[in-house]
Amino acid sequence: MPATVIVGAQWGDEGKGKIVDLLAQESDLVCRYQGGPNAGHTIVVDGETYKIRQIPSGIVAGKPSAIGAGCVVDPAVLISELDELEARGHATEGLVFVSGNTHLVMPWHVALDGARERRLGRLQIGTTRRGIGPAYADKATRIGIRVQDLLDPKILRQKLELAVAEKNVWLERVYGLDSFEVEGVVATHLEYASRLGPYVADTSLLVDRALRAGRRVLFEGAQGTLLDLDHGTYPFVTSSSPIAAGAAVSFGIGPNRIDEVVGVTKAYVTRVGEGPFPSEIEGPEHDRVREAGREFGTVTGRERRCGWLDLVALRFAVRVNGITSLALTKLDVLSDLPRIPVCVRYRLPDGGETDEFPAHQSDFHHCRPVFEELPGWESEIGDALPELARRYVAFVSDALDVPVTLVGTGAGREAVLALT
Ligand code: IMP
Repeated sequence: MPATVIVGAQWGDEGKGKIVDLLAQESDLVCRYQGGPNAGHTIVVDGETYKIRQIPSGIVAGKPSAIGAGCVVDPAVLISELDELEARGHATEGLVFVSGNTHLVMPWHVALDGARERRLGRLQIGTTRRGIGPAYADKATRIGIRVQDLLDPKILRQKLELAVAEKNVWLERVYGLDSFEVEGVVATHLEYASRLGPYVADTSLLVDRALRAGRRVLFEGAQGTLLDLDHGTYPFVTSSSPIAAGAAVSFGIGPNRIDEVVGVTKAYVTRVGEGPFPSEIEGPEHDRVREAGREFGTVTGRERRCGWLDLVALRFAVRVNGITSLALTKLDVLSDLPRIPVCVRYRLPDGGETDEFPAHQSDFHHCRPVFEELPGWESEIGDALPELARRYVAFVSDALDVPVTLVGTGAGREAVLALT
């Protein structure tokens, strides 16, 4: 299909990278539509490992790759990714495109992200501390600095002077942190400007032309549905729009241009950071699943919280994203279990039960999971799904009324089964 969005259907870390890699092979343009260096993505190609946070992974396969206006970029991180790719023999100029409207993550955003989390103490969100929230906040307040500001030294200086003056007050007086010195910041950003200038592009036009020419465009979301600023488990969310509609907003195309939405979900659930998590596993099985799934964050190294598959949350993801098919990743992680609980409903504080995601935060915070147990297949998954694994997949697909078309069965890039 010409325009496909890949969206995380849970709280991020669903294994989108692998599905994106797979679909990128058949795409003509790969587009990242939100988030910034809070995402992490490890790709292994021909024995070489690439850790990419901002550039769509399609670049490793030599695919044109675009970063949309709905993203934020940390210029230092972006430059280090470009340098690394080039050092390893990958062309980037003429292949990497960054929207001029994309906002920059500035060094004070990183400092403020950490300082706010420290101040919140036990009420903290558990951010990646990469400056994401403060960068999007400045965008919304209309005092952010955009990629295109780098192209005009006069405007750049003016904006940096204003920003430094304001942020220094916060840093020094509110948080007792070191301030920034404007000339140093200007000099660094003029250097960034000369390195990044050739990559700045009109990414809306780029995508529009590609679609008009019948090319296949893949939109890659970061994080996941339940971390969406508007529709996720606020305030324990990220500051952008991971849901599929975010792709149209970020790239400035009409929502009717999107043909397919592939939701990526693990065969269980993980969550990093704070916030309610109804199907979180209790007891020793928690650590067993974490070890089997190697559930430690790519960006922060933090341990991920693990839960049983939550069909209530997935049904919500299907709805808010318009998911047309599902990729179920890491099914092999469940291979040893004799019985596999699946959360099919929530019991609400008033005693009622629901299979729809609660619209009110208090209901979600206080609901309890209702599990159904499915028999495990207790064998390795090879080239075909064991019968009971097939039943597990069919249970998910029937409950959500969406086909599961891809199943992840191991760590390697090739360990994906296509189901018909
Ligand atoms: P932020 O995006 O750094 O502001 O973090 C906000 C919330 O989103 C925190 O709970 C993070 O743990 C979570 N988060 C951000 N990026 C990712 C990701 O790539 N995977 C999983 N969780 C993430």
